[in-house]
Amino acid sequence: MNAVPPPGCPAHQSLYGPEFAADPATVYRRLRDAGPTAPVELAPGVRATLVTGYDAALHVLRSPETFSKDPRHWKDLADGTVPMDSPVVPMMMYRPNALFTDGEEHSRLRGAITDTLARVESSTLRGCAERSADTLIDRFAPLGTADLLGEYAQVLPLLVFNHLFGCPVGHGVRLVEGMSGIFDGVDAEKANELLTTTLLDLVGLKRRRPAPDMTTWLMEHPAALTDEEMIHTLAVLMGAGTEPQQNLIANSLRLLLSDDRFAGDLSGGTLPVEDALDEVLWTDPPIANYAVHYPRHDVVYEGTLLRAGDPLVVSLAAANTDPALAGSQRIGNRAHLAWSAGPHTCPAQGPARLIAAVAVEKLLDRIPDIELTVPVERLRWRPGPFHRALAALPVSFPPAPAVGRSEGGRPGAGRPEDTWQTRAEPFPAPPAEPRAPAPGRPRSGWARPAAWWRGE
Ligand code: HEM
Repeated sequence: MNAVPPPGCPAHQSLYGPEFAADPATVYRRLRDAGPTAPVELAPGVRATLVTGYDAALHVLRSPETFSKDPRHWKDLADGTVPMDSPVVPMMMYRPNALFTDGEEHSRLRGAITDTLARVESSTLRGCAERSADTLIDRFAPLGTADLLGEYAQVLPLLVFNHLFGCPVGHGVRLVEGMSGIFDGVDAEKANELLTTTLLDLVGLKRRRPAPDMTTWLMEHPAALTDEEMIHTLAVLMGAGTEPQQNLIANSLRLLLSDDRFAGDLSGGTLPVEDALDEVLWTDPPIANYAVHYPRHDVVYEGTLLRAGDPLVVSLAAANTDPALAGSQRIGNRAHLAWSAGPHTCPAQGPARLIAAVAVEKLLDRIPDIELTVPVERLRWRPGPFHRALAALPVSFPPAPAVGRSEGGRPGAGRPEDTWQTRAEPFPAPPAEPRAPAPGRPRSGWARPAAWWRGE
């Protein structure tokens, strides 16, 4: 039986409880006392080493010959010490995609992604993000109150990505439900199965009926992805494109609505959105701890033994706030690690930033007098070792009119930027009352978008 650890003992620091979610900075400070790397628990019984130093993080991220991204090296999973139903396994297990491969295999799979992303025009992406933002703002603008997380930041990336992937509405509902289980760790195995079968369906659909969308472009890439590789590449694109994206939007809105430095500029009419994004990427990066690597052999780093096959989790959040980093100027400085670094650095930084900037600008442009309805310190964060994610972002504002959507129920139909993309279905019509929760049923963070897609 495990002995109860003394309070604050870095050797037993957990990254999954509500205490960590409420105040990760204190945990990172405590862990730094052990040096640039420290032992942590990601979930009950799941041991890992957290890299908290900025230089140490760069060293791990840029040394693929020493540190592998392939979870098939993970000893505790291979020998059953970590059970397959542990809530962190779906986020860490091997899948044949860019995130979990090394060397030539990684270059092939990543090349297909970067070439596909390069085919998305930024004007197309901007138009799609703007229409999605308008559709959502129209829903709550006349009401005078909203939860900007559940009704905006969470749904907007789903609309954008389902559109970009040419995903029919029925598939969209199932994808959201599948991802909800994986991110929230609720019935993760079943969720994984739903996600896989839905993606398999989508791939089958596009093989039969290719269209000018990202799914088809990925499929037609010279890297010749197999169906299995297609499914797992789509899963990483959609997973990466929704959860961190929502957190960047919500965390930036939280900062803009609560920090006087930004409030002054807001009332002056120049929205310092780019500055807010930079600051959030430094202080509350959407993916706080991830970029899991496995030493290929025993390594001693700064006096600490890192054993072969033990997971090394890079704390992008702790590295960004490493006191050893010279200077405190954050705004305009993009040396943060929020997108990671090295061969696995996020390939979608430009699109991700653009979507977040459009989401924030559109909202503040249409509803400038927006206020948090609770003091910022009382906002709750979702527990979990990997993300920095608000549970809700309640606001109020003077009711504003809906601007209406384009004709035919399809936002932007007929605009030039739509010509690259044909869709089997229009965007789903917003539901009559998306905010009423089903009585007596607890809702996960992702239940609302799933309900939204179903039109509930
Ligand atoms: C604000 C939004 C985003 C943030 C903060 C973010 C951050 C990151 C980080 C930290 C990684 C490295 C993860 C690791 O090594 O384990 C990563 C990888 C990745 N991201 Fe993003 N990302 C965002 C949006 C997106 C979007 C919109 C897409 C796709 C459309 C995307 C696609 C990917 C892919 C495919 C990888 C794996 C790359 C590889 O392993 O070679 N990300 N992202």
